[in-house]
Amino acid sequence: MARGLVGFREQAENQAKFFVSRGIPIYASVLTTALEMIAAGEGHVPSVLEEAWKDREFSSPYERALLLCASMRFEALRDSSHPLAEKIGDDADGQGRVTREELDRAIDFGRTLDSLVRRFVQTNEVSRSITWQLAATCFEGDGPIVVIDLGTSAGATLVGDRIAQNWQAADGSPIVLGEEKRARKRYGLDRRPVDLADSDQEGWLRACIWPGQRDRVLRFRRAVEEVKKAKAAGELVVSKMGAEDMVAFVRQIANENPGARILVAETAFIDYLPPDIRAPFEKDLGDFISAHPGRAVWSGLEDALAPVTEGGGKRFPAEIRLRRASRMHVVARCEWHPSVVAIDHAELAKARTPH
Ligand SMILES: C[S@@+](CC[C@H](N)C(=O)[O-])C[C@H]1O[C@@H](n2cnc3c(N)ncnc32)[C@H](O)[C@@H]1O
Repeated sequence: MARGLVGFREQAENQAKFFVSRGIPIYASVLTTALEMIAAGEGHVPSVLEEAWKDREFSSPYERALLLCASMRFEALRDSSHPLAEKIGDDADGQGRVTREELDRAIDFGRTLDSLVRRFVQTNEVSRSITWQLAATCFEGDGPIVVIDLGTSAGATLVGDRIAQNWQAADGSPIVLGEEKRARKRYGLDRRPVDLADSDQEGWLRACIWPGQRDRVLRFRRAVEEVKKAKAAGELVVSKMGAEDMVAFVRQIANENPGARILVAETAFIDYLPPDIRAPFEKDLGDFISAHPGRAVWSGLEDALAPVTEGGGKRFPAEIRLRRASRMHVVARCEWHPSVVAIDHAELAKARTPH
């Protein structure tokens, strides 16, 4: 656990390299410029960050770097007079550099300090719906499917089937998965659920998308509308719940809906659980799936055990796993924000056979 600026330099340097590799040099510049100012003891940046993080504990190595960037972007999205509005605001393309003078004004702008003190970087990536949409193809016929998304954030992934997506196969051909009309009831569970009807919460989630990632922002905006509609229609329920209570909830929903197929989804979730929570969670959920052959599937977008490099040199750090009663199938490989998705059709066909 790190506090204040202890260990920040190495983490921010690594994250800056990552931003460059992902085509977002402007965020790399925010971090390297902040590091220069910290090293020189120049301006407000060092003292504001020290003050903001003196009592906070950070466990993940990229948390502080991402929090600094998102806290500034949150203000830049809300106010066109922000010193970095053009560079990290809505119309920014992710390119360019910031100056020390701009950063010094940005760190003191609006509620930046408040965000640095109390907010958590949180994402909700709509394109990850391919995880549960592929899993839904395991179920034949028109019978109802209940989808339960664990670690749902705001529930945006749960409406991804109602939003235009641009997934492609490794050969460039489009992957088309239409609206899943059989999924008439969708539940999202999270220990910190985000309410998209609350403009502050919605704005923060949007601020956590990086400048220049316009497709992601567009999909997110559409998801905000779809989530609101689905909630109003009673199709979508997002609830506060810790991982330790989730499998009991899944069992309860299965008992209450005896005629429905149960699709449990989790994207960028299980890898975040500490081992003492993850182990019983996996065992319990695995037991539930084994006890419901043919009726239940557990789909996950998870860390690839061995990241695979496909044709074209693309390296896929994540994989889509479907767990059925008899075994687990790795049915696709992709990035954490899936656009190119290399589906293993043979494995997907095996996952579809009755279990
Ligand atoms: C990286 S985000 C992914 C969000 C969403 N599934 C997506 O793919 O966009 C991980 C989510 O898991 C939730 N989470 C992490 N640990 C949790 C726990 N122990 N219990 C419940 N939710 C948890 C976080 O609050 C966060 O919303």
